[in-house]
Amino acid sequence: MNWVSPARLNAMGILGMNRRNIQLIAGHNPRRLYPLVDNKLKTKQLAAAFGIPTPTLRFVVTAQHEIREIRKKFEKIEGFAIKPAKGFGGKGILVISSFRENAFIKTSGVKLGEKDIQRHLSNIIAGLYSLAGTPDVALVEDIIQMDPLFNGYSYQGIPDIRVIVFKGYPVMAMLRLTTKASDGKANLHQGAVGLGLDIVTGKGLRALQFGRPVLVHPDTRNPLDGVNIPDWENILNLAAGCHEMTGLGYIGADIVLDKDRGPLLLELNARPGLAIQMTNGEGLLIRLRKIEAIAGKMRSTRERVACALDLFRRDQKSS
Ligand SMILES: Nc1ncnc2c1ncn2[C@@H]1O[C@H](COP(=O)(O)OP(=O)(O)O)[C@@H](O)[C@H]1O
Ligand SMILES: [Mg+2]
Repeated sequence: MNWVSPARLNAMGILGMNRRNIQLIAGHNPRRLYPLVDNKLKTKQLAAAFGIPTPTLRFVVTAQHEIREIRKKFEKIEGFAIKPAKGFGGKGILVISSFRENAFIKTSGVKLGEKDIQRHLSNIIAGLYSLAGTPDVALVEDIIQMDPLFNGYSYQGIPDIRVIVFKGYPVMAMLRLTTKASDGKANLHQGAVGLGLDIVTGKGLRALQFGRPVLVHPDTRNPLDGVNIPDWENILNLAAGCHEMTGLGYIGADIVLDKDRGPLLLELNARPGLAIQMTNGEGLLIRLRKIEAIAGKMRSTRERVACALDLFRRDQKSS
């Protein structure tokens, strides 16, 4: 994007880093609640208590001495993801799709030996990928089975849907597609494609990779128009329910669509990135202010989603 003056960005309602950090994150996300989302194990436990489905947790590796005997545990599962509980931005996540002839095979086809897996677990526990560099634990969960809907749209990995939820109301969404560059992870900084989604309908808007517009998926060459997420309201309900679950006023919920289990909560972010605005061609501020104006009343999750859909639908009609 060309340089645009701060005054112009403001007029467009683009939310900047300072305001996000000061007003939204500090103002709506009490610090004591951060561990609930900065630690994926805690998020999973909390989600289970609230009846929110997540990818199945197989086991947790908490100490270096457990690593030597780990192979037996892995042989029992067909595909899995290893991730640092306190990781972020896709760092330290290893997605293994199968185990054949003594090799663990990544979604990219690259083969890893037992030693590689052990080293990776050891690095996670030592805190190599943890937010503050503090010791961590490694989660091993089932691999998500991609909904065939995304065939041709995602390369060697599982796309996820990021929904920004403000005071429990969904305000903006984006689909993140894995690419060769992103190594099977749907994180924008790793090279995933972000495709804005119409908050009212779940239809694709515009796509960016590394901050630049793209019209086709960089690896599959599939055109990126025509994306239309089915069962959209259900996905918004799942995301909006994470407000009650955490008590956080401003969150980014990452949701995946599993072929067999349907929408699952992958993780929550208390400091969601701002690039979502570029994929929507619209700033967050105007939408946040509109929610602010209606959010006083107590409403159930479903009522809030219906309310937000109504509000943004009316906006679209009048513009
Ligand atoms: N169980 C899994 N199966 C397949 N892919 C996964 C799994 N867990 C994570 N991924 C991939 O890694 C990405 C990042 O995972 P996530 O749990 O959101 O961690 P982070 O906090 O690092 O973003 C996901 O968007 C997805 O593409
Ligand atoms: Mg994530």
